[in-house]
Amino acid sequence: MTRVASVVTSLKILGAACLVAGSASVFAADEPAKAAASDAAKQAIAVRKATFLLIANNFKPIGEVLQGKAAYNQAEIVKRAQRVAFLSELLDGTFPAESNLGTPQTKTKADAFSKKEDFDKLLKEFVANSKNLAQVAAAESTASDAFKEAAKAVAGGCKGCHDKYKEK
Ligand code: HEC
Repeated sequence: MTRVASVVTSLKILGAACLVAGSASVFAADEPAKAAASDAAKQAIAVRKATFLLIANNFKPIGEVLQGKAAYNQAEIVKRAQRVAFLSELLDGTFPAESNLGTPQTKTKADAFSKKEDFDKLLKEFVANSKNLAQVAAAESTASDAFKEAAKAVAGGCKGCHDKYKEK
């Protein structure tokens, strides 16, 4: 092989190596980014579902008092209302745009993302109403009108938001 031919051959090998390395690094950069995005979406969906499950579990005894199915036990209702108020705040940031995956991954309707301002307003009102209920219950020793009004505001928030933004 002449010297020139050998240099050309070396350059070709080098070029091919660069191409392979180049495309490998493109994949390496792309793939983890995609995986991370879908992991973040899955994580957000799992967290909001778990939070709603705990909210529902803790709101149940309050709903039963409202429906006249259970007696008002102030200590128990205050405990439950405080939990709902705390849990309601954990929903913040659990509806990122990339978690708009539709069913079966999530029962959150696409409208919750396209009408984000309205959805966030309902979420904010829910947090405020839940905190208010915890305060009212702490001051009410019976299932008074004040308690019922505060509890109904929270329950109305569940239904109002579900009717608009949650798949059945
Ligand atoms: C601002 C809107 C909003 C409010 C307020 C709200 N929810 Fe929801 N809820 C949703 C959405 C959206 C989903 C669907 C979550 C998903 O699948 O991504 C959901 C899901 C749920 C689920 C199913 C969780 C699971 O395991 O999949 C339960 C139970 C629930 N909510 C109960 C309640 C109760 C009880 C209240 C009131 C005390 C409430 N929610 C208030 C929007 C709301």
